[in-house]
Amino acid sequence: MLKKWWHNTIGYQIYPKSFQDTNGDGIGDIRGVIRHLDDLQDLGINVIWLCPIYKSPMVDHGYDISDYDRIDPMFGTNEEMEELILEADKRGIKILMDLVVNHTSDQHEWFQKAMADPDSEYADYYIIKEGDGNNPPNNWRSIFGGSAWEKIGDTNKYYLHLFTKGQPDLNWENPKLREIIYDMVNRWLDMGLGGFRIDAISHLKKNFAYVNQPADGPDGLASAWDYFRNAKGLNVFLNELNEKTFKPHNALTIGEVDDVRPEELGEFIGDDGYFSTIFDFCHTQFHVKDKEWKDRPLEMIRELRERLFAKQDYAKGHGLMCNFTDNHDTSRSVERFIPEAYISFYSESLLASVNFFLRGIVFLYQGQEIGMRDYQKKSINEFLDLATFNNYNGYLLKGMTEEEALEKVNNECREHSRTPMQWNDRKNAGFTEGTPWFEVNPNYRRINYETQKKDENSLLSYYKKMIALRKREDLEEAFIYGDTIPRYEDQDGIIAYERRYEGKRILAIHNCNAREIRLPLGDEIGEILLNNYEKLNVGDGNVVLSGFQSVITKLI
Ligand code: BGC
Repeated sequence: MLKKWWHNTIGYQIYPKSFQDTNGDGIGDIRGVIRHLDDLQDLGINVIWLCPIYKSPMVDHGYDISDYDRIDPMFGTNEEMEELILEADKRGIKILMDLVVNHTSDQHEWFQKAMADPDSEYADYYIIKEGDGNNPPNNWRSIFGGSAWEKIGDTNKYYLHLFTKGQPDLNWENPKLREIIYDMVNRWLDMGLGGFRIDAISHLKKNFAYVNQPADGPDGLASAWDYFRNAKGLNVFLNELNEKTFKPHNALTIGEVDDVRPEELGEFIGDDGYFSTIFDFCHTQFHVKDKEWKDRPLEMIRELRERLFAKQDYAKGHGLMCNFTDNHDTSRSVERFIPEAYISFYSESLLASVNFFLRGIVFLYQGQEIGMRDYQKKSINEFLDLATFNNYNGYLLKGMTEEEALEKVNNECREHSRTPMQWNDRKNAGFTEGTPWFEVNPNYRRINYETQKKDENSLLSYYKKMIALRKREDLEEAFIYGDTIPRYEDQDGIIAYERRYEGKRILAIHNCNAREIRLPLGDEIGEILLNNYEKLNVGDGNVVLSGFQSVITKLI
């Protein structure tokens, strides 16, 4: 594997709307990110990914872009963006933007022109098809619920939107449009960006061989994932995008790509892959409150372990995966993986560490480093996201009561991760002087950055220690490139692995049980690199781990 500049990435995702407001409008902004660059440097990260801040009507919180070249005034100006790139650079931090090119906003000039004149060249920038009699062209269900087609005025034509109807899908079959997109990507990269996180990229290619399928839900529609995710021919677009933009800039690119067939992983993340690495969600989709896992936390841990190790195995020999647990589309990992009664510093630091020392690069999501939690709502009206409402209505359609549907969205909805960042215990958690666009979680008096910064035993301090360890000069390469060898797979509730690299051996053991566990030790423990308890009990060829103890140690 060729060595690349970004291989030592410890990334940090920012949801700008909720990070730090500096002008009192209740919405986070670029100045707010600049204000906290020193804090982020102090944490030890070296890459920031910003969720979209381009001009947008915000139907999907910025994932509906109406002008790719302008920063939305709610976040600041293009000049401030340049300042952020420069200021971050001074601190050894590269900035990634979000690249959303599967779709635009319906307010984008191209779409407006396409609607105004269906015979103009702009109509071919989008996917527009004749209806099937009085029905849409087919019965695809949009990812956010409802038909994926929207009728155009009083014509019998429809445009495709895999997400909300405010996000019409772009027609990647159009070579002219592709060139326009590449030019735009290059303009941003020329400005000094480190690269991009690339949104919904597995959907660029659509396979219209699909004719109506039997409905698979009470809405009369059918899921058609196979026809618009990783569809045959997607590689042509991804390859061209890479060759014409990312590759000449030596950019760090992280594709949001799920369900890549293991045998194709090399095409995605290999030395010559379409992307540097990918965010794959297969290990994040657990919830201790789900029917499936409730009362079976150990089975859930076993399944998690299998998925993590399988991924390590697939990626070996190809490239590096991105190790993460949280982002703006998930609820908080603490809530997903740890039963309520067991949430404590020990379980939280253990959870943080499980992913952290695997082979690959690391990404954190804002607030994860201080253990921010989900904010349960009492009414559906307290939520703001279209996806939440669509899910809620879908549950009602399936026959759930309002209480049941609310409980379900309260458990799983992505908005939980979007509450404002909790900086201190003062007004609005220090996020804004104005009225926050989304309610601050009232637990901010207890859980906040400032308090944890002063406490060397806090979760924040533990994250700093983990990052410092991954960057330790004599171990950095072992953590990035070393092989991952699962250990203690016969033990319930244990996620343990060894990292081996050029004669070095490091053992990471995580006891996900609430109770003490005794493990036979076949090796001699060397330097203890990190331990979330004060002591490690070793003796008589055994190691005894307390509930939720996690230890990273050298092996002799
Ligand atoms: C983004 C979501 C967004 C969707 C549509 C996703 O992958 O992460 O937040 O709603 O794409 O752009």
